[in-house]
Amino acid sequence: MTEKIKALLQEVEAFKAETHEQLEAFRVKMLSKKGLIPALFQDFKSVEPAMRKEIGQQLNELKNFATDKLNQIREQLEHTTGSIQNQDIPDLSMPADQYPLGARHPLSVTRNRINGIFEKIGFVISEGPEMEDDWHNFSALNFPEEHPARDMQDTFFIGKNPDLALRTHTSSVQVRVMESQKPPIRTISPGRVFRNEAISARAHCIFHQVEGLYIDKGVSFADMRQTLLYFAREMFGEKTQIRLRPSFFPFTEPSAEMDVSCSICGGPGCPVCKYTGWLEIMGCGMVDPNVLENCGIDSKTYSGYAFGMGIERIAMLLFQVKDLRMFFENDLRFLRQFKAAL
Ligand code: DAH
Repeated sequence: MTEKIKALLQEVEAFKAETHEQLEAFRVKMLSKKGLIPALFQDFKSVEPAMRKEIGQQLNELKNFATDKLNQIREQLEHTTGSIQNQDIPDLSMPADQYPLGARHPLSVTRNRINGIFEKIGFVISEGPEMEDDWHNFSALNFPEEHPARDMQDTFFIGKNPDLALRTHTSSVQVRVMESQKPPIRTISPGRVFRNEAISARAHCIFHQVEGLYIDKGVSFADMRQTLLYFAREMFGEKTQIRLRPSFFPFTEPSAEMDVSCSICGGPGCPVCKYTGWLEIMGCGMVDPNVLENCGIDSKTYSGYAFGMGIERIAMLLFQVKDLRMFFENDLRFLRQFKAAL
């Protein structure tokens, strides 16, 4: 009897299992009703009384040892493979949770649309620095020395240097392009601009513009008008009309402001167009010969047009946003609404 107990003890001690099946088979073999250990308890009945205490103890030790060992292996297996009985186990074949898609910022969406419309007709994108010198932001663009736009009121100067400021418009990029490239030039320049203005629903000290420039031989005002009509219809719909009103900019002659027919009411008048049926969206004109000459382009051979628009203004019309500050606050409840606007 003692021999049998010892042999089983050794077998239990040496037992290892890698699967629940192996473990269960061993449990049946050792501990189930018809298993080897209960069988020993049956044999125990025929042990002589003098030996009973000792053998009884050995048998109990064997049973406890086997039970502990099996429990211990079961725990390990559950730890490494996960328990089949455990109801909380995730279904590993389930599709993963969807990763929430972000949205592009409405100003990026608008800028990309403007870029795309002009790229389709051969304009290329160019960029310039946000910190500019007086020449590129003002002088080359034909701003007279005493022009009020140079005033501290509008311009953020960098430190005490009167020659270094944050650009007040993207027209500065025109100058850089004309200085470094030969006509024909067809370019649009999107970018951030800065003006020392009080922040309100309609104005901000940081905003965005897109500048356009076309220089070649024989470019006329009619070319500009047709290009801008094409743009307006691509942007606001094919029924859109445009209207050019005489205006003044130092760097264009003649200059105009362009209105589009109101994209909200389509003409009869509404609060957005202040019941006029028209919305002003950009300034434009024929590049002043002085500007061409300032940038090293022969104004007798070449002519061209330029235009500039505020991206916030276009985005407000496109998405019917009433307060420009929304674009800068980056409230997720606002931004998430542009998921579909690629
Ligand atoms: N730079 C002007 C502004 O910031 C916009 C502008 C008007 C740009 C007419 C142009 C233009 O190129 O021809 O208000």
